[in-house]
Amino acid sequence: MKDSPPPPIADLLGYLRELGFEDLYLRSGGAPPRPGEEAATAAAEPAPGGPAAPAGERAALLAAVAERAAACTRCRLSQKRRTVVFGTGSPDADLMFIGEGPGAEEDRQGLPFVGPAGELLNKIIAAIDLAREDVYIANIVKCRPPGNRDPQPDEAEACREYLEAQIELVQPRVIVALGRVAAQSLLDSKAPLGKMRGTWYRVRGVPTRVTYHPAALLRNAAFKRPTWEDMQIVRDRLLGVDAGERPQG
Ligand code: URA
Ligand code: URA
Repeated sequence: MKDSPPPPIADLLGYLRELGFEDLYLRSGGAPPRPGEEAATAAAEPAPGGPAAPAGERAALLAAVAERAAACTRCRLSQKRRTVVFGTGSPDADLMFIGEGPGAEEDRQGLPFVGPAGELLNKIIAAIDLAREDVYIANIVKCRPPGNRDPQPDEAEACREYLEAQIELVQPRVIVALGRVAAQSLLDSKAPLGKMRGTWYRVRGVPTRVTYHPAALLRNAAFKRPTWEDMQIVRDRLLGVDAGERPQG
C-alpha cells in the first residue's frame, strides 16, 4: 500500500522530459514505432492531474529509461563495462535499495547485487519478511568502476538522472542507502557512515534510511546487528507503525 497514489502519468512523462528523456514513448510490449508512425509521446498524454500511472505503464517507462542507459556513454565508466546494470525488481516496490555500483559479477550478468554482497542482501531482505522480487534494487552508477574503485562524483552525476527516473517511476515508500558511497551521494554529504545512520532523510520526497553495505558486513560481522536494527526500523515504517520522523540533520 502506498502513502499516496502514484503520480499521474503526464507528470511522470513531463518529469522525464525535464531530465532529458525527450523521446520516451510508451509501449505495451509492442515494437518501437516505425519512422513516420506516431509514438505515444508525452505531448499526447492527458494533462497533469489525469489518471495515476498504472504499474504496467511505469514498468514500460522504466524499460524505456533502461534502454537509454544501455547505450549510455556519458562518462568514462562506459569504456570498460561489459554490461550496463540498470536495476531490477518490482516497478510497484514499496522498498528501494540503492548500492554503489556494479562489481565484477554484476557486470557479467547485467543485474545488481548478484555476487557475494547480493547473497547477503537477499538475506537482509528476507529478514524483514520480503522477497527480492518485492523490492527494487539499483545503484548510484550503472557501470562497473574498474577494479571496484569508488565511483567518482562526476560519474555519479552523469548517472544521476537514471536513478532519479527510477525513484520517480517506482515511487517507493522507503529508500535504503547501502553503505557510505551510496549514502554520501544520495544525501550530498561527506559525513562518515556511522554519522549518517540513525535518522530519516528525504530523497526526492521519499523517506530514506542509511545502513551498512552488505560487503562491509562480509568483512566485519560486527556490522550485522546494527544493520538488522536499521532494517527493523525500515520494516516498521513500511508497516506504518513507527513514531514518525526525527528532524533532518
Ligand atoms: N555492490 C554494490 O554496491 N552494488 C552491486 O550491485 C553489487 C555490489
Ligand atoms: N564503511 C563504509 O564505507 N561502508 C559501510 O557500509 C561500512 C563501513
